[in-house]
Amino acid sequence: MIWSNVIGTGGYLPATVRSNDDLSRMVDTSDSWIYERTGIKTRRIAAPEETASSMAEIASREAIARAGIDPQSIDMIIVATGTPDRVYPSTACLLQQRLGIRNGVGFDVQAACSGAIFAVSIADQYIKTGFCKTVLVVGSEICSRIVDWNDRATCILFGDGAGAVLLTASDQPGILSTHIHSDGSYEDLLYCPNPQVAIDAQKDEPGVINMRGNEVFKVAVNTLGRIVDETLAANGLQQNAIDWLVPHQANTRIIAATAKKLGMTMDQVILTLETQGNTSSASLLLAFHEGVRDGRIQPGQTILMEAFGAGFTWGSALIKY
Ligand code: COA
Repeated sequence: MIWSNVIGTGGYLPATVRSNDDLSRMVDTSDSWIYERTGIKTRRIAAPEETASSMAEIASREAIARAGIDPQSIDMIIVATGTPDRVYPSTACLLQQRLGIRNGVGFDVQAACSGAIFAVSIADQYIKTGFCKTVLVVGSEICSRIVDWNDRATCILFGDGAGAVLLTASDQPGILSTHIHSDGSYEDLLYCPNPQVAIDAQKDEPGVINMRGNEVFKVAVNTLGRIVDETLAANGLQQNAIDWLVPHQANTRIIAATAKKLGMTMDQVILTLETQGNTSSASLLLAFHEGVRDGRIQPGQTILMEAFGAGFTWGSALIKY
């Protein structure tokens, strides 16, 4: 049997830090309100010249260096992003160019905050079936460019960054299972219009995130509870088989509910939310990278990744590291 094994991780965060106090000078909010409701204290903001592909390149180069492989051996690049540099070419093609790779294939995946899980799931299918040997998966987002900086209900949540993971074929267990879902009937609760390709030009909506946060919160908690059950059942595992929860970083209260469902303490959760905010499809890859880099995640351990995002989309990946 062929498995997908993780051989390298990488991450990139832009230099500029925007604190809750900075935000309280822009909108009617406070550090205590934001921290208590979300768990976020600071987030990073990309410089004007940065793009999803430029950030993806830095995260990818780190993953490639940590894996110690020749970039030319990468035969598929999947970039998850809701903030692509261009409508086309895909950010994956732009990344392919930046990495100097001219073989294989690159394409983007759009599943909002669940994008990294969707991309890992696709990569795993191609590796397991023998069509690809080495796949680079990246989540890269410049959320700051699609946030309404006058809307205190959303601008406090999001940040910029890129995370990368390299997967390769092996005869040893790696990705044990992936589970991805969507239900488009929730469009109105969380969406970002594309003003240049408006569905209804009369609406004249700006291209910023629109969210009914409280309703999103409730669906997210319930849905993530179900994906935990689905993942454990598919693998015939009990809660105590999971060493680390690596969640999409949207809100500490949502993450705590999932940890509770798994019978885990917050010490078994890789949290980056406090200093990074919600970086959408980059967040769980950044968290995974942090856990690997600082040595908390050890070879042989079992990791549950999960995410939830606009669509709604949601999913999980169970990985033997
Ligand atoms: N500072 C101060 N007050 C704020 C505020 C802010 N930044 N944002 C909203 N408020 C106010 C609201 O106006 C409302 O005031 P009112 O009672 O006078 O009408 C009050 O706080 C409560 O708003 P509500 O939206 O019910 O708060 P909440 O407890 O649900 O917290 C979120 C808001 C956005 C933090 C929370 O709903 C959340 O995190 N939702 C999930 C969002 C998410 O993760 N989205 C991405 C999914 S991938």
